[in-house]
Amino acid sequence: MARVLLENVTKKFGDVVAVKGINLEIKDKEFMVFVGPSGCGKTTTLRMVAGLEEITEGKIYIDNKLVNDTPPKDRNIAMVFQSYALYPHMSVYDNMAFGLRLGGTKKKEIDERVANAAEMLGLSELLTRLPKQLSGGQRQRVAVGRAIVRNPKVFLMDEPLSNLDAKLRVQTRAQLQNLHRNLQTTVIYVTHDQTEAMTLGQRIAVILNGELQQVDSPLNVFGKPVNRFVAGFIGSPPMNFIKGSINKANSHYSFECGGFKLEIPEDLSQYLAGYEGKEVMFGIRPTDIWDVPSSAWIDRRFTIDAKVDFRELMGSETYMYLKIGAIPLVARVGALNDAAPGSKFTVVFNMRKIYIFDPETQKAVI
Ligand SMILES: Nc1ncnc2c1ncn2[C@@H]1O[C@H](COP(=O)(O)OP(=O)(O)O)[C@@H](O)[C@H]1O
Ligand SMILES: [Mg+2]
Repeated sequence: MARVLLENVTKKFGDVVAVKGINLEIKDKEFMVFVGPSGCGKTTTLRMVAGLEEITEGKIYIDNKLVNDTPPKDRNIAMVFQSYALYPHMSVYDNMAFGLRLGGTKKKEIDERVANAAEMLGLSELLTRLPKQLSGGQRQRVAVGRAIVRNPKVFLMDEPLSNLDAKLRVQTRAQLQNLHRNLQTTVIYVTHDQTEAMTLGQRIAVILNGELQQVDSPLNVFGKPVNRFVAGFIGSPPMNFIKGSINKANSHYSFECGGFKLEIPEDLSQYLAGYEGKEVMFGIRPTDIWDVPSSAWIDRRFTIDAKVDFRELMGSETYMYLKIGAIPLVARVGALNDAAPGSKFTVVFNMRKIYIFDPETQKAVI
């Protein structure tokens, strides 16, 4: 059992409030990801769980035990840092064994644990090498191995993949998922990268300015973002936002902006009571803007003529950067679209997947 509970956890550095009253339960054996922009308080939160940073207010429990005053070495956790922090003059074996030796573990036991971890991570052939004789990916695995040998109840990982190139990051993501399955331990993983969060997390905690915005499954933070920040932060290319107003005529609701007017489907209209005549922020993901030729169905009401600003050919798909009048919009369309900049491009909005955000609270209304 290794449940981690944060109760109203706050961290102040002088006048700077880095973490503001976070309440969060990380379940036993869960892979929890903290994601948010740089400086939002992810590392500080992780360091408080590790015991490397004092808690200004609130309580942290590991396995129902209050650990506010428990030193890091007695918390049964292991942390993998972004920098790996390997000892340059020590072999892979010694790097992995170091913490166990300090803790007084017997040589035979250390040998076994290092051999197991090395096997799991594909490092068995590299145990005598020095860090400088390893590739970035291998160094990263040594840093993980050093954490594994301690059989921690909780793994804390702070942006462990950020020093790897793009291809290696994808491979290592898959390895980390396997590792989590094999080890069956609780993991708290920090990243600023929404793709990493989506692909690794069983649940994702989205943080902004030290405050928890939403804690949910990857599909829910993507599909049902609670506010405009989460909606814009999760997903790539990001959600399109268009400022406009909600209008009501003959009991039908519509969204209107300078460039166009869209009828809101009946079943979504119920959420808009009270917004008649008000300014709102409309949101739609690039995946829900379809190019007309490849759309399964076309509803004339939602067809809009745009102009191609520029395009990015991805091979398997094309990102069309469009303008409807002065309004910029990105659509993810089929790979065969190669409409040239300046040409007309007709799109259909998937009105089942629209979002409306309150401009004052930023909360999702639809
Ligand atoms: N030791 C420190 N002293 C003063 N301010 C700090 C310290 N560590 C972090 N901060 C501030 O706390 C905020 C959160 O930082 P951090 O937790 O490192 O963010 P993240 O890991 O999400 O990028 C930032 O504004 C940062 O400048
Ligand atoms: Mg950080």
